Amino acid sequence: MHAVVRRALATVIVVLALPAAAGAQPGVGVKAKTGKGLYAAYCLSCHGVDGSGVTSTSHPPGVLDVHGLGPPLKGVGALAADFYLTIGYMPLADPHEQPRHTKSPFDDREIAALVAYVASLGKGAGVPHPQPQRGDISRGLSLFTEHCAGCHQVVAEGGYVTNAVAPPLHQATPVQIAEAVRIGPYLMPTFPASQISDSQLNSIIAYVQWAKHPDDRGGWSIGRIGPVPEGLVAWLIAATALVGCCLVIGRRFQR
Ligand code: HEC
Ligand code: HEC
Repeated sequence: MHAVVRRALATVIVVLALPAAAGAQPGVGVKAKTGKGLYAAYCLSCHGVDGSGVTSTSHPPGVLDVHGLGPPLKGVGALAADFYLTIGYMPLADPHEQPRHTKSPFDDREIAALVAYVASLGKGAGVPHPQPQRGDISRGLSLFTEHCAGCHQVVAEGGYVTNAVAPPLHQATPVQIAEAVRIGPYLMPTFPASQISDSQLNSIIAYVQWAKHPDDRGGWSIGRIGPVPEGLVAWLIAATALVGCCLVIGRRFQR
């Protein structure tokens, strides 16, 4: 066979073999659409039968010094399941890695089924319904500065904590923010209602929402990089126009 043809064939075979190598990806191969079936396929290996957790001392300590693959899910409620699934933290690929915000491999129906199943494992909190429209942005700013900015710094940029990344918050929805505050995922502290009330939470969410799209303060916002670059750009345009004028005038004088 011609070398080029052989190489092309080999590439085709590798590409065809890839999906099989990737293993059981949601939506591929597994027919289960019930919460229990999805749980068995994608969660049970780490969270155990009926959400009892997989904690064995033979596994090296992972996230939060838990020995094993995953914590028990009894009693975490719809709140935690909804957060971890909609934000794409779960299913986790490696129990020793920090969960990261990604697009969930599950569709909305599959997430709803999984949330209902996890909620059925024990008594737990339901999905919250924050009302940021009732919040106060400036109060939210001072609460954010007090409780969150130490790690998340600026809303759109996030920051670093020892051994973890505090993600930027501009991708989180109001419900996910409310859930995160009550859960305290990974190294983030939990804030119970005694520390941040529901109405204070509304203000924090209102502030985070506002900070995603701060109102333009008039003028020409060049990607909102601030007044100095805006001034520079104005000068550049003015300078170009001036040079242009000089050239035109200069040419006239030459005649
Ligand atoms: C590779 C192992 C692994 C797999 C697979 C996995 N998880 Fe997890 N899960 C973890 C670890 C480790 C944590 C702790 C992470 C943390 O605290 O941020 C966790 C945390 C959670 C939590 C939060 C628990 C709490 O105490 O608040 C929920 C809810 C959850 N997982 C649901 C699921 C669901 C549903 C699936 C299946 C779609 C799944 N997980 C698949 C390892 C896994
Ligand atoms: C001690 C540091 C720390 C503090 C204080 C903190 N967080 Fe976090 N936050 C984190 C870390 C770390 C994560 C990532 C969790 C993970 O990967 O499982 C996180 C995740 C989040 C997320 C999910 C974002 C995403 O898209 O993945 C939201 C929303 C959030 N925090 C909001 C808040 C709010 C609001 C406050 C203040 C009330 C706050 N956090 C205070 C460290 C912190």
